[in-house]
Amino acid sequence: MLKRLLILLCLLGGVLPVAFAQNYCLTPPAPAAPRYNGPAVLGARPGSPIIFRLPFSGERPMKFSARRLPKGLSLNAAEGIISGSVKKPGEYVVKLKAKNASGSVKAKLILKIGDTIALTPPMGWNSWNCWGLEVSQEKVMASARALISSGLADYGYCYINIDDAWQAPDRDADGKLQPNDRFPDIAGLGEWLHGQGLRLGIYSSPGATTCGGYLGSLDYEEKDVQTWNDWGVDYLKYDLCGYRAYLKTLPEVTQADHIKPYVKMKELLALQPRDICYSICQYGLMEVWTWGREAGGNLWRTTGDLTDKWERVHRIGFQKQRGLAGYSGPGHWNDPDMLVVGKVGWGEGLRDTRLTADEQYTHVSLWALLAAPLMIGGDLSLLDEFTRNLLCNHEIIAVDQDPLGKQADCLLEDGAIQVWGRPLCDGSFAAGIFNLGEEALSVDIIEKLKGAGWSGIGSCRDLWRQKPCPQTVNIPSHGVIMLKFNAMGAK
Ligand code: GLA
Repeated sequence: MLKRLLILLCLLGGVLPVAFAQNYCLTPPAPAAPRYNGPAVLGARPGSPIIFRLPFSGERPMKFSARRLPKGLSLNAAEGIISGSVKKPGEYVVKLKAKNASGSVKAKLILKIGDTIALTPPMGWNSWNCWGLEVSQEKVMASARALISSGLADYGYCYINIDDAWQAPDRDADGKLQPNDRFPDIAGLGEWLHGQGLRLGIYSSPGATTCGGYLGSLDYEEKDVQTWNDWGVDYLKYDLCGYRAYLKTLPEVTQADHIKPYVKMKELLALQPRDICYSICQYGLMEVWTWGREAGGNLWRTTGDLTDKWERVHRIGFQKQRGLAGYSGPGHWNDPDMLVVGKVGWGEGLRDTRLTADEQYTHVSLWALLAAPLMIGGDLSLLDEFTRNLLCNHEIIAVDQDPLGKQADCLLEDGAIQVWGRPLCDGSFAAGIFNLGEEALSVDIIEKLKGAGWSGIGSCRDLWRQKPCPQTVNIPSHGVIMLKFNAMGAK
């Protein structure tokens, strides 16, 4: 009942005057019938465990089926979770189907068993922006439960990543890294997440300590990877921090000095019998985008930390990502940092993100265009209807998850207006027309797309509203219109 009321208020926001509608919802409600919102491709290495919760929205109960599943995989038809492992490398086309009282739908999933994982940017949740150093297993579980109950998991969000501050102050007698008393059982947490079709992420540093002053992996790398493997870890964020103390002792620091600890970890991860998505975090130093892929990164942070201030979104999103498109692609993504949406606070008490509704539409739109990992930073147990609506637009997510994996770049700058665009795998294009100025602007869409280098623009869709584009549009200050259209290629 409460949920319905929140949805109604959020949708009404879109038609009320701005004073009454700070957080207005643009994404139309999902239909009751099943709809596939997930990636078209999934990568895994031969023999590695696969856990994939089928991202279908629609009313429950829902029954799932999967035809042509390769040998070694099975489907839990009531929960919609595919698990198992595939030994034989190759491309498998799996035919998915979901059915409920309102209808049924089919979808195709291409399973690529080979060397490359993270064929589309990883999606999920990370504890840092909400809990900072105050994270606990209970809080992580609360967000994981909410990921499912809120329906976010039906849109492909699947990683539950513990950031800094899970480590105990001392290793055990065998040198094994221990969780602290806020984390009674990380292996149990991993098992529970896997049972839900979700994946577990962990955090460490190549230095002796982490940014938060907790134990890092220096000189214990092999032992730590073994521990994480035993716990069922699926994702590692490896954060430079404490390693800088060592770098400071060198007479001159080269790119090679930065690369070394990351390659060491890559080699250890490659030996594990499971796929561990490797997130390199060193704030973009030494042009990480030029070597992150070689160092084994499935993603690498390109900048310092994002916070919930418009200036940071502007700097990190619009200034620092320019020219990086060529370095990203399936299996290796530029990472402009986690989403600063919902209830954040970095461990100092939760509060609503300070970004306005329009700034949040801009944030999510730009991240989708940038093929950025979509890691939600807000506490999901307190997810509000606006944030849920913002994060569950399957047409926006499809841009981020497009299998071609071509990151957008800035194609036009015209006063306060910027147009960022990218080609999509079906031959069409996605573009965001952003208003970075302080006043609302009326914009002729076709004119701006032409200015950005597209010609012969055909059918055009407004992705947030999920309807055909208007000819002209009023774009609020710090706001956006996100488009998908057919055209001749941009310059
Ligand atoms: C650094 C990273 C953050 C977070 C903290 C943890 O600042 O950039 O994303 O992981 O460390 O201490």
